Amino acid sequence: MTWTAVILAAGLSTRFKSERPKVVHPLAGRPMIQHVLKSLRAAGCPHPPVVVIGLNASAVREAAGPDVRFAVQPEPRGTGDAVRWAEPILRGEVPHILITYADLPLVRPETFRRLIETHQATGATLTFLTVHRADPAGYGRVVRDPAGRALRIVEEAEANPEEREISEINVGVYVVREPWLWVALSRLQPSPAKGEIYLTDLVALAAAEGARIETVALEDPEEALGINTRVQLAEAERILRRRINTRWMLEGVTLLDPERVYIGAEVSIGPDTVIYPDTYIEGETRIGRRCRIGPNTILRDAVVGDECVVEASVVEGAVLADRVHVGPFARLRPGTRLAEDVHVGNFAEIKNSAVGPRTRMHHFGYLGDATVGADVNIGAGTVTCNFDGVRKHPTIIEDEAFIGSDTMLVAPVRVGRRAKTGAGSVVTRDVPPETLVYGVPARPRSPSQDVGDASGAD
Ligand code: UD1
Ligand code: CA
Repeated sequence: MTWTAVILAAGLSTRFKSERPKVVHPLAGRPMIQHVLKSLRAAGCPHPPVVVIGLNASAVREAAGPDVRFAVQPEPRGTGDAVRWAEPILRGEVPHILITYADLPLVRPETFRRLIETHQATGATLTFLTVHRADPAGYGRVVRDPAGRALRIVEEAEANPEEREISEINVGVYVVREPWLWVALSRLQPSPAKGEIYLTDLVALAAAEGARIETVALEDPEEALGINTRVQLAEAERILRRRINTRWMLEGVTLLDPERVYIGAEVSIGPDTVIYPDTYIEGETRIGRRCRIGPNTILRDAVVGDECVVEASVVEGAVLADRVHVGPFARLRPGTRLAEDVHVGNFAEIKNSAVGPRTRMHHFGYLGDATVGADVNIGAGTVTCNFDGVRKHPTIIEDEAFIGSDTMLVAPVRVGRRAKTGAGSVVTRDVPPETLVYGVPARPRSPSQDVGDASGAD
């Protein structure tokens, strides 16, 4: 194995104006730095990368996750200084070190690979990524000699007006030979304008030594976007959204208006599913085939089977089997499991409950900590009163039961198979199978009494 990576994440994020380091801010639902790590992993980075972090950077440690090594840069003295703190970990480990920045989340795995391959094939001492940008402001410019050889990178702060006109910029990804890297880093001097030690000055050092410098040009300038401000964060979000949405459309998913559908990086969606605008599909959501999702819907860490409909609803941590209909205006909370052909209608809320096949809950109501069988009808306004102020209690509704409108099920309670509750019942005791109860508190119907039948809106 010939290479590994260093990711710089110890800067102050001054321009980002946040209490938290910018690299932990989410992009397409996952921390910015995770995009860099994932892309490096996909490029086949053979050793765990080293992430350079600042002091007290527990948020960055957490966002980077377990499969990395950390080096600490005690003071943010510039990108060149930052890499030096990785030396004790990496000295002698591999012959080539890729260096990139945690605020470059859009660089693709193929690009990292191309850079490594060019570097190794040419035997260069230093290889770096460049691109031409119509607006190069804010980036380091690549200065070349008349023969086209890279001479140095000049940072915006130091660039003279002529250099500022250069449209070829330094993307911020380098592959450098070891141990040349460590020797060169130790020779870098603070920049005149900012007093920082610039990693980019390695290019001038290599050129002065007559060492071989190679550059690789990006084909897609969008990959070069560095995130220094919230404006660039929004731009990256838009680019990633377009990439993700394009991928799903090419996989056979219809997006009515791809600019208005927000799909997280970890989501998966089956073909012939149609997604309507203003829909947010987040976390590790999985959606099956031939579903209709949205408009105005949030799915978060949800599992949706085939041929489901979820309209104007919020579904979080719930599992839906095939042909389930949800909404409009339903809220499914974590722990909800709906079996095949369940319908959950308007203004219904379900939490931590399992609902059996073909059961209907068409109108406003609440199920919490409930186990509901197959073919149950849950009338409008039914509530499982699952909380006594201290503890949560379960409700069990067996197959083919009929829960009349506005029934209060005071848990713990069980409604037996094919039992019925009358409209407005307050059920405080178990209902035996095949029994009708009604009233407050609900009692079984006695043959001598003439009461109305159970009734529920459907
Ligand atoms: C840097 C490059 C510039 C390039 C641009 C691409 C330098 C000197 N300049 O400028 O040529 O065009 O990226 O986006 O490298 N960091 C540390 N420790 C520090 C300072 C920074 O770890 O002391 C980290 C930051 O957290 C960040 C990365 O290094 O992730 C880049 O730093 P930043 O200040 O954003 O550099 P740019 O000004 O964008
Ligand atoms: Ca930057």
